[in-house]
Amino acid sequence: MQRIGVVTAGGDAPGMNAAIRSIVRVATFHGLKVMGIERGYAGLVEGQIRPLGPRSVSGIINRGGTILKTARCEAIKTNQGIQKAKNTLKTNKIDGLIVIGGDGSLKAASELHEAIGLSIVGVPATIDNDVAGTDTTIGFDTAVNTALFTIDRIRDTATSHERVFVVEVMGRKRGFLALEVGLAEGAEFILIPEIKHNLQDISKKLRQGRSKGKTSEIIIMAEGAGNSATVVEQIRKETGYDVRLTVLGHAQRGGSPTARSRILANQLGAYAVELLLKGVKKNMVGIKGQRIVSVDLDYAWKERKDLDMSRYRLAEILSA
Ligand code: F6P
Repeated sequence: MQRIGVVTAGGDAPGMNAAIRSIVRVATFHGLKVMGIERGYAGLVEGQIRPLGPRSVSGIINRGGTILKTARCEAIKTNQGIQKAKNTLKTNKIDGLIVIGGDGSLKAASELHEAIGLSIVGVPATIDNDVAGTDTTIGFDTAVNTALFTIDRIRDTATSHERVFVVEVMGRKRGFLALEVGLAEGAEFILIPEIKHNLQDISKKLRQGRSKGKTSEIIIMAEGAGNSATVVEQIRKETGYDVRLTVLGHAQRGGSPTARSRILANQLGAYAVELLLKGVKKNMVGIKGQRIVSVDLDYAWKERKDLDMSRYRLAEILSA
């Protein structure tokens, strides 16, 4: 192995830059050359690629987003796209690829490996944390803290106006982000795709809470748990309370990564390079407890990662 490629794909996540920096510097330490593929798989298909050295990754450890840019790419799912990607890799003499991204990007990485046999290591990076084989993903901790920063402020105004606030956080299919934010924020209710909610029941509990002295409430809702505007409307109708909606949206994907996201990115990036040097063909790096581990790349997107339901129950008890 002499020359590796690195690509950030799918939705960006804070800490991707720290991962790129780690990969470039560890690879250089081991005498490898690194090529940065731009705009995710789109750049791989279209041949947008440039060399990266230790100086090209200076001053980025603290920056959100990705210096390589990223994109949602349909072309990589087609035979024609895969052939073009193969040409880019061949022309640039790349004999190992590191893909930094979420479940969709890791699935595409696995399919690329099946199609062309290239050695690929995935580095899990998504604010959704919905990747199996790792306790947490790069960017998740940052997104949780970014959401909390804003919701703490929403709580101030909710308290002053004696309002119910429904705050929609990201998490297309899974409730990891909503659960973590809800528990950390002390939310009255957490609505996640994994658990069916009943708005009549929630409204009843809101009324009970008010009869026991509560004067305002925060409801954290994952975007994948339904239509937040409808939730607001129904709770308003059922309770007669002043209910407001805040959708945090893409603000959660940006910003300077937290120490936890940066350190994880440093460790996972470094291990990804070491695995390529060891000759692995199709793996993903991750963290289990304090240990940096690796799993088969397919495990990452095929397995369904469990939510920690004890956290959900704890949040319920603490919201009394
Ligand atoms: O996968 C990360 C994520 O931020 C999801 O939480 C969200 O549903 C989705 O990406 C949004 O994607 P896009 O930026 O392409 O609209």
